[in-house]
Amino acid sequence: MSPSNKNDQLDLGLRKFIKDLGYIAGGSVLLASTPWLQSCTPEKLEEIKGQKARIAFIGTGSRGVYHIHNLLNIPHAEIVALCDNYPPNLKTASDLCPKAKTYTDYKKMLESKDIDGVIISTPLNWHAPMVLDSLAAGKHTFCEKAMALTMDECKSIYDSYQKTNKVLYFGMQRLFDEKYIKALQMIHSGLIGDIVGMRCHWFRNNDWRRPVPSPELERKINWRLYKESSAGLMTELATHQLEVSNWAMKRIPDSVIGMGDIVFWKDGREVNDSISLTYHYKNNVKTTYETLISNKFNGMGEQVLGNKGTMELAKGQYFFEDAEPAPAILQLINQMESKAFSTVPIAGPSWVPEIATQHKPHYVIDGPISINPGISTTGVDKDGSDLLLSAFCQASITGEKAKNIVEECYCSTVLCLMGNQAIEQQKKIDFPEKYKIPYLNF
Ligand SMILES: NC(=O)c1ccc[n+]([C@@H]2O[C@H](COP(=O)([O-])OP(=O)(O)OC[C@H]3O[C@@H](n4cnc5c(N)ncnc54)[C@H](O)[C@@H]3O)[C@@H](O)[C@H]2O)c1
Repeated sequence: MSPSNKNDQLDLGLRKFIKDLGYIAGGSVLLASTPWLQSCTPEKLEEIKGQKARIAFIGTGSRGVYHIHNLLNIPHAEIVALCDNYPPNLKTASDLCPKAKTYTDYKKMLESKDIDGVIISTPLNWHAPMVLDSLAAGKHTFCEKAMALTMDECKSIYDSYQKTNKVLYFGMQRLFDEKYIKALQMIHSGLIGDIVGMRCHWFRNNDWRRPVPSPELERKINWRLYKESSAGLMTELATHQLEVSNWAMKRIPDSVIGMGDIVFWKDGREVNDSISLTYHYKNNVKTTYETLISNKFNGMGEQVLGNKGTMELAKGQYFFEDAEPAPAILQLINQMESKAFSTVPIAGPSWVPEIATQHKPHYVIDGPISINPGISTTGVDKDGSDLLLSAFCQASITGEKAKNIVEECYCSTVLCLMGNQAIEQQKKIDFPEKYKIPYLNF
């Protein structure tokens, strides 16, 4: 680690985030429910004051540049090297960090002794070779989600992680998003009763295409659309939400059924633009997953359904099944109004909707809340991504592994790949024995 010029700086964002979760010195009870935060407590941040992790980037496309912007604000990190094999993207990054050495061959860059941590933001087919090479080169490693393109590759990464003493993080930013953490703590304390189901969805109206300067670059630039480099909407979008589903349920689904098609964007792409799946947990609770990229009305969301209430995680709000009775005076006004205006018959004169009670939202966090509508394909502010990156840089100095992040990403990625298998084979897919790891219950 190189000495810092700004010796007295700490990442106040990370510090405040953990304190806002209710952390007071030690904080073991609080951190028991979020074990990945145990390696980046305010006390540990204080210990690395004045040090900087030397960070290198592989992949400086849209997500890589988003991370560079965040990293430039992290006091305990400096960007020392950049690698991309597409010159315009390498130049964009180099303009942002002119002191960093540039490379087009990532293996050459990994030979450098002047790098502590590597951040990988490349297409999915490159994740496994790059993560494995980076760990083998003795670097702490952060890779974007999903873990990898195939289950075998995921298992190789998981096995390597068991053997290495290096830190490994994945881009699962909901693990560092205050509203998710608080909401999940509320759910686990019984706020909405027993979890009886979960509904996750991600809707956009966007072809997912990028302009291509010349035809031979089509598969490189639009890698998301082709099966050799992408597992489509499952690994790009669902991976985040299935991770949250497992976090809520405290278990992993045992099987999945579903369907997927190309409904609207019939432009030569290979991956589906419409997917509906049902994941089954052994306690018979199910998570439905729906994604569509030709209608954005429903946006993005994860609803945890309890027998006493519903938590909308992405919005940080919850509702109780039984609304509190209105004050007597309001009830009187309501009665008078309904007599005055009568009811509008919808399904016969005596029809009363079962959910007629007005549901009032309650909020997980006091004050303004940052909601991701799910439209951006790069990332949004205040969704935990900056804090996750800061924690990785901290770990690149201390060498302390973060609990559960690898396991969470492994399980959600395998579930995404199982979803695609269920679609392709048109049958129920059980979680393969070969890929089970000792993490959570089925
Ligand atoms: N966590 C999140 O919310 C989130 C959001 C967006 C993207 N992502 C993930 O980030 C990753 C990158 O996505 P993106 O949108 O930035 O893609 P992108 O196409 O914009 O960028 C990828 C970059 O990698 C470079 N690259 C490809 N192969 C390379 C190689 N062999 N050597 C060096 N460079 C190489 C490309 O030239 C490109 O610049 C994906 O895994 C994606 O799923 C995560």
